[in-house]
Amino acid sequence: EKAGYEHFMMKEIHEQPKAVRDTLHSVIKDDAIDLSGVGLTEEEIKSVSQIYIVACGSAYHVGVAAQYIFEELTRIPVRVELASEFRYRNPILDPNGLVMIISQSGETADSLAALREAKKKGIQTLAIVNVVGSSIAREADKVFYTLAGPEISVATTKAYSTQLIATYCMAVQMAYVREMINIERYQNLISEMLKLPDKIEKILYDKERIQWFAAKQANAHDIFFIGRGLDYAISLEGSLKMKEISYIHSEAYAAGELKHGTISLLEEGTLVIGVLTQNDLYEKTLSNMVECKSRGAYLCGVTSYGNYNMEDTADFVTYIPKTDPLFVTSLAVIPLQLMGYYVSVAKGLDVDKPRNLAKSVTVE
Ligand code: M6R
Repeated sequence: EKAGYEHFMMKEIHEQPKAVRDTLHSVIKDDAIDLSGVGLTEEEIKSVSQIYIVACGSAYHVGVAAQYIFEELTRIPVRVELASEFRYRNPILDPNGLVMIISQSGETADSLAALREAKKKGIQTLAIVNVVGSSIAREADKVFYTLAGPEISVATTKAYSTQLIATYCMAVQMAYVREMINIERYQNLISEMLKLPDKIEKILYDKERIQWFAAKQANAHDIFFIGRGLDYAISLEGSLKMKEISYIHSEAYAAGELKHGTISLLEEGTLVIGVLTQNDLYEKTLSNMVECKSRGAYLCGVTSYGNYNMEDTADFVTYIPKTDPLFVTSLAVIPLQLMGYYVSVAKGLDVDKPRNLAKSVTVE
């Protein structure tokens, strides 16, 4: 059932090209995005004045990335919230807003409660869900099904990747319908999305190098992930993957926040993983890495092919193929998933079933 892999997590990591491809092809037909299956009409797309993305855990991290993408492409203001906070906050919701719930299982208690809260307030709801017929899928006004297939490992990988795709497709289509992007940009974004599965595949070829690096980190006490913009969103997910299966304390920081406290935690040899895929932010975060290095940090960099000067600063660099900067999360997350996986394996832990965690969190 693990198809020759040692753990479900590794099997699911390798299923990502297919899961992403299937999800893309469920809404992209003849080089155009068709959201009619989701039930979103052009009228509705045009009238949305605010988007609220509500989710837990990794699905929340998809929301953090999606916020950048929706705002950049559609210029619709987006708020991202943890479901466990949203549900008790008596949130102020714009009547023309759209509440987007993201959930693999469709059964997460807080996400379901947040959905009910939004419906009670009379706001349109849309769920991005993997499990057909789950509670969230049944109760939401509209559903975008991700086609990741069953995910067994507690640490999500392929569901996360397909959730990202769902948000890209919605953001690109909404931007086009609202005339925020022209047909050339629209088609270019679609063609870049369609290339993502092959690029993910390419990153997976490099897994032995990451294994070699990760195996050396098994004794780490703390790991810090830093990045700006979308690279911060990726850092959040990389850090969660690492801590939940390796039991190493890890945190993600917006790189600009380092100087506001965190940098005092660095000691000789503390591992800092910098995610630097956004060209306009590259130099800024690189200079943060230099600062970390001068405080003794051991540096790992995740960046795009071409940024070879990172090797002057970082002790280990892993490269990802180029794509539209808006879609880079789909690629940069792969080496971070692999890193968490290989550290967990090197420590001899139960990768698929980390202690104290359940696949589906149906109690708050
Ligand atoms: O089923 P859901 O997507 O609603 O689950 C949300 C979180 O519980 C989930 O993403 C969790 O954080 C994973 N263990 C992360 O790998």
